[in-house]
Amino acid sequence: MKRTHHCNELTAKNIGENVRLIGWVHAIRDHGGLFFIDLRDREGITQLVFDLNRSELGDVRCLRDESVIEILGKVVARPADTANSKIATGEIEIVVDELVVHNICDVLPFPMAEAKADTVGEDLRLTYRYLDLRRQKSFKRLRTRHCASYVVRNYLDKNGFLEIETPYLFKTTPEGAREFLVPSRLNPGSMYALAQSPQQYKQMLMVAGVERYYSLARCFRDEDLRADRQPEFTQIDLEMSFIDREDMYSLVEGMLKALWKDAIGVDVMTPFPRVTFVDAMDRFGSDKPDTRFSMEIYDFSDIFKNSDFKVFSSVVGDGGAVKAFNAKALADISQGEMKSIEDIAKTLGAKGLAYIKVENGQWRSPILKFLSDGEKTALAERLNIGNGDMVFFAADKWERACTILGRVRLECRDLAVAKGKMHIPDDVFNFLWVVDFPLMTFDDDQGRFVATHHPFTAPVTDDIELLKTNPQSVRGQHYDIVLNGTELGGGSIRIHQPQLQEYVFKEILKIPENVANDRFGYMLKAFKFGAPPHGGIALGLDRIVALLCGTSSIRDVIAFPKTQRGIDLMAQSPSPPSEKQLRELHIKTVP
Ligand code: AMO
Ligand code: AMP
Repeated sequence: MKRTHHCNELTAKNIGENVRLIGWVHAIRDHGGLFFIDLRDREGITQLVFDLNRSELGDVRCLRDESVIEILGKVVARPADTANSKIATGEIEIVVDELVVHNICDVLPFPMAEAKADTVGEDLRLTYRYLDLRRQKSFKRLRTRHCASYVVRNYLDKNGFLEIETPYLFKTTPEGAREFLVPSRLNPGSMYALAQSPQQYKQMLMVAGVERYYSLARCFRDEDLRADRQPEFTQIDLEMSFIDREDMYSLVEGMLKALWKDAIGVDVMTPFPRVTFVDAMDRFGSDKPDTRFSMEIYDFSDIFKNSDFKVFSSVVGDGGAVKAFNAKALADISQGEMKSIEDIAKTLGAKGLAYIKVENGQWRSPILKFLSDGEKTALAERLNIGNGDMVFFAADKWERACTILGRVRLECRDLAVAKGKMHIPDDVFNFLWVVDFPLMTFDDDQGRFVATHHPFTAPVTDDIELLKTNPQSVRGQHYDIVLNGTELGGGSIRIHQPQLQEYVFKEILKIPENVANDRFGYMLKAFKFGAPPHGGIALGLDRIVALLCGTSSIRDVIAFPKTQRGIDLMAQSPSPPSEKQLRELHIKTVP
């Protein structure tokens, strides 16, 4: 069954050759005596011509789209007026001599032609994922993903990294995202957790003296799913000994540069800009800022400190902030659009979303009557307010005010793009590092500090003294890499001193000693046996490939993804286990 060529290869140079092709029936055209089939394989399309007067080719009439056939035939030039310059094989066609039918395709659940399949609902496409993947667009994405993994492996190998697999069946450590539990048949009552990441193992590999580890690691997190989140996903996970943050930045920049160049031929400029967490929040209202457009957020706490508008002045009086940004040219958003923006702000805890819009040169706003001339001048100047603009305000605790406007800013981006008022070219790739995160964040629900990244992140050396006096102000040696508003990855320099790690668990994170020992005791012990200084990072491979492919959903670049509800529609998983299985696992379900 050896083919002589793929369906993208034959050109005028091959005219006169006898060839053997195998593939899928892409399209059928019956022109009376002449019968045409576009034959497709993963590489391309070639036109076949059948002479129906030849009885041995009669089977061709029973074929339907997507049937699998093999042909022997001769390459001939197409008549000049029928050549197709759009495809590589457009100058030639194959006059078929022999036809073998391998599989006749049933009635398809959806049309496979690219343009039509794109309009088919995702659920139907996921149910028949093998058909969806057979489309050239999908295959191209799989190939880009393959290329990305290959580039990464090659780059890290050249930089002295060893690829090492670590266990998926791990110990439950409820500090991070919610875990999937796996009952242990051999140890009744005990369970593994599927690893959320190889974090602790990779640190142990550093203690083991490996110096440079990487893995394309599958990670499992039982989170609420979104377009950029799956319950199982892949990290480019790495860890290095004897490095500082600068080493990490240049290593990762080199890897991303190679990825963009080799996978899609784009030259990315390095080094990437760095933004502190505080700056990112202040100016873009997000720790993963999209800097492809402006609409920057400004602080007006100083202006409204003594304002007659009590909503604002009281927030400033309580230590909060008043922030605003100019959604350029969006004064004409509809009531419905405004309502949905307000609803989003409310879900983030906004008590209101004051605005000013400028129509026919006039400022219009429910809060206008409260504003002094000085306040209006300050707003107009700082925000460069002009006719047709829309300004949004948030007055709240600093972080919440930033977050609210950050989300509203992204909504305004999407509206401006949809209305044709803003254009974001496809080939803009704004990489940046976000640095100087606080080591911990106070969690109001738990009434204690939680690690901003994870509890193994080292404090900035200059800030270690502040751990005792003002832990909230301690910066972590944590870095996130962001592209066009997507967090691609995050990592940190780790704590490698057992005393400091113990202090963070007990005194800062308030994890009781027995719990810390139970969960992390082996790490604390390992750190006493010659732990090298080390640090690492993990980048989401799915997110990287999605951005390389220009799609917003990582489901598009995962061969067999799950739906938002965590379901594999093709295999219909998850599914109920049998009674016998449950008994063996020592599990009783409560009805
Ligand atoms: P973190 O939790 O930030 O770090 O994860 C690193 C990167 O993994 C990707 N990612 C996801 N991708 C798809 N679906 C998900 N549910 C999902 N969750 C995370 C993101 C993210 O930036 N062990 C640390 C890294 C370290 O410190 O070295 C870690 O896992 O792109
Ligand atoms: P009020 O006087 O409470 O009706 O508020 C007047 C305007 O201010 C309304 O448009 C509210 O949406 C808005 N507003 C109220 N509280 C806030 C807040 N914390 N931040 C931003 N705008 C607010």
